[in-house]
Amino acid sequence: MRAAVLNTIPGELEIEEVAVASPGPHEVLIRVAAAGLCHSDLHFIEGKYPYMTPAVLGHESAGVVEAVGDQVTYVQPGDHVITCLSVYCGGCENCLTGHPSICTGAAATERTADQPPRLSRNDGEPVHQFLKMSSFAEMMLIHEHGLVKIREDMPLDRAALIGCGVTTGLGAVFNTAKVEPGTTVAVIGCGGIGLNAIQGARIAGANRIIAVDMLDSKLELAKEFGATDGVNAGAGDPVQQVMELTGGGVHHAFEAIGLKVAAEQAFGMLRAGGTATIIGMIPVGQNVELPGVAFLSEKKIQGSNMGSNRFRVDMPRYIEMYMDGRLKLDELVSRRITLDEVNDGFAAMKTGELARSVIVFD
Ligand SMILES: NC(=O)c1ccc[n+]([C@@H]2O[C@H](COP(=O)([O-])OP(=O)(O)OC[C@H]3O[C@@H](n4cnc5c(N)ncnc54)[C@H](O)[C@@H]3O)[C@@H](O)[C@H]2O)c1
Ligand SMILES: [Zn+2]
Ligand SMILES: [Zn+2]
Repeated sequence: MRAAVLNTIPGELEIEEVAVASPGPHEVLIRVAAAGLCHSDLHFIEGKYPYMTPAVLGHESAGVVEAVGDQVTYVQPGDHVITCLSVYCGGCENCLTGHPSICTGAAATERTADQPPRLSRNDGEPVHQFLKMSSFAEMMLIHEHGLVKIREDMPLDRAALIGCGVTTGLGAVFNTAKVEPGTTVAVIGCGGIGLNAIQGARIAGANRIIAVDMLDSKLELAKEFGATDGVNAGAGDPVQQVMELTGGGVHHAFEAIGLKVAAEQAFGMLRAGGTATIIGMIPVGQNVELPGVAFLSEKKIQGSNMGSNRFRVDMPRYIEMYMDGRLKLDELVSRRITLDEVNDGFAAMKTGELARSVIVFD
């Protein structure tokens, strides 16, 4: 099959022939219909986070089941699925207490070193799977706990976005921060993740939703997703601008870029008792600095991984929200591209202008 391989870090993706194994007992082979480009892929391409090479990148996808292992009963060939990198073991303390997105036993869902790899070059050299997924490929072979079955009238290109960006943004609001109706929310960074945090806040019933970005075009787009106000971070200190707009700060601030400074800004724009939720991937080795005195006014800061999802429950719910018109997904797709255009897609991401590019397979 054809796949986009990262051979050097930093580097570009190269389209190569990669062999995919047959499903083991708990594995599912999926024909990929669509795969979104997420900034997390770019962090690894740029070396801000380490990874093994060669690796097939991509982690936000939807497709159709092609074959299943002999122990798989949850899906069968022909079923439509969304994949999720929050592959869960189902038996660790976090899984058993309702927090499968921070499963500590997921290594058990991968193949061991003495088994043939899921992905390899035709000469047998193993190719690493990225985040247990590797979506930038015609086929994916993943553990059955890394997918959810969905209704067949859901368009697969938009379903793919639910695989990471939508679930991360909505889940940060619904599951991690538990935003209450009537509150005031700020979202720093209006890309694929931030726009979903914004529409999540709208669905959750926030009264005021302040979008923060460097680009006026993104602030306009954010308004389509439910933002009531826009703050251009390039036009002066965003903390001061949000403080002035709100007369004392927000209940919830979300960081959706992956910058130390933006995480500090998120904390800085809270009112007493407020909570900052950090979604963005801050480069490895960077520390976030906060004024200690702020804790006396009960300000809080927390991380959110993949929207603290319970994806087999959450994702079908998000599809219902799309189907009844509450969730905007059509507007999230800025471009449909081919696998060969994947590097152009990441170049466009660096400009900040796009919401999401989606690779569509024939
Ligand atoms: N925690 C998780 O589970 C998780 C999951 C997915 C993505 N992420 C991370 O979320 C972050 C956002 O991902 P994305 O795909 O939405 O990225 P993106 O590139 O689509 O969007 C980033 C946005 O931030 C804006 N921006 C850049 N610098 C800014 C600044 N200084 N101030 C204000 N705005 C600024 C850009 O204009 C752009 O609109 C990334 O760090 C990604 O790795 C985390
Ligand atoms: Zn992602
Ligand atoms: Zn677990």
